[in-house]
Amino acid sequence: MLNLHEAVKDREGYIDPSVFTDEDLYRLEMSKIFQKTWLYVGHESSIPKAGSYILNYMGENEVIVIRDPNSRLRVFLNRCPHRGNKLCLFDQGLQKGFTCSFHGWRFDTEGRLNGVADSNSYADTLKPERLGLKEVPRVSSYGGLIFASWDDEISSLDGYLGDIRWYLDRLLLKAFLGGIEVLPGRGKYLMPTNWKMMADNFMHDGTHVPITHTSFFQAVQKTQETKGIGWFGGNLFDSALNVLTISPTGVPHACGFFEFLGDTRADSSAQVQPILDRTMAERLGPEAVQWLDDRTKRLKEFVKEDKSMVLGSANWTIFPNLSFIMSPSALRANGIIQWHPRGAKMLEAWQWTAVEKDAPDVVKRFAASLLASDQAPAGMITIDDTENFDRMARNVGSSTIEERPFDYSMPGMDKQQFLEKFRQAGIDVGALPGSLEPLFTEEMARAYYGYYRELMAESR
Ligand code: FES
Ligand SMILES: [Fe+2]
Repeated sequence: MLNLHEAVKDREGYIDPSVFTDEDLYRLEMSKIFQKTWLYVGHESSIPKAGSYILNYMGENEVIVIRDPNSRLRVFLNRCPHRGNKLCLFDQGLQKGFTCSFHGWRFDTEGRLNGVADSNSYADTLKPERLGLKEVPRVSSYGGLIFASWDDEISSLDGYLGDIRWYLDRLLLKAFLGGIEVLPGRGKYLMPTNWKMMADNFMHDGTHVPITHTSFFQAVQKTQETKGIGWFGGNLFDSALNVLTISPTGVPHACGFFEFLGDTRADSSAQVQPILDRTMAERLGPEAVQWLDDRTKRLKEFVKEDKSMVLGSANWTIFPNLSFIMSPSALRANGIIQWHPRGAKMLEAWQWTAVEKDAPDVVKRFAASLLASDQAPAGMITIDDTENFDRMARNVGSSTIEERPFDYSMPGMDKQQFLEKFRQAGIDVGALPGSLEPLFTEEMARAYYGYYRELMAESR
């Protein structure tokens, strides 16, 4: 078994490639990581009433996320206790209970066995109280985001999320603009890489963006030049920074490509994006324009009381395997992405689309289509990433030649120097929680793998 002390030198920034390929390590992750953390299982808007459910995964285990008759959120293993058949076969729906397709055992939405097909044959040997669905013991939600944990003793979800909640409130959940809803359905796609690779990519990897995604930015720029519309405005790389938060219980989370509403630089997203958004809304019609203008008014009102002036961000990771993809545009949906583990060298991405609840349908549809055009299975961004990961998967872990550790040592430019740039642009960086990091640094990944190593070494 791999010695993680040797393999993960998080402070120096050296990670042995086998951390991404070793099957024994992967098996251990299923218990040490996926049974000991809070895992995202869905959004409350997807299950609005008693009996509404969605399926999701916690690690490799499929779960049913449902509201019981009292509308309480419950999470059950999607496994019939009789012989282990998959009980619920559909991704999403409304049910009074579930009947197993194998021998017909029936369960209510509180997980109780409430009937078998041939009860007379059991005489009194059947003990329904011992044959209910296995329930995930801890379920909690933050701003509609539902998390569950197999660990009875895990600290509260609030303690687990810590300061990242401040950013969630402003950038994803946006209650001050009426909040969000998650559209029905989800994208699912396989990527030939370890699940941690994408979690760390979304946590920190600003460096690859201008290189890997050159063609994407060229395409966006072309659309802006020819049609006057676009969903990334301004000098993105100059006006952005990253944020790393460590929760009170030591959990690292990060969001990157952070931009500011109060950025007075002429080429910042704050100056350029509203103009592009207005042009796009005009093309969508008067309903979209009215919504956008009203939204701008509400945003300004909120900003009056909130001097931290947040405009947008791009990529996030909530430890261990939840990411978001966002944009400074009001007209693009946000993606909620889970990197589900599927063996050491494969992951299955599940992607949900979050739109602003108050937006008219025409905007919701357009917002979803913009997201689908970039971060999606056939989107311009995702295919660039997948190509790299595919090549890495073929290259790493299959050779008998001793491999060098992966390098995560980049410190990033001097903090005071880059923060000064933001101060000069009129941004109150001191008001932002967490540790502010330059766009190009690997500090967030080092924090991620440091905590990962700690969890993997825990004895309980
Ligand atoms: S496996 Fe479900 S009823 Fe037999
Ligand atoms: Fe990427």
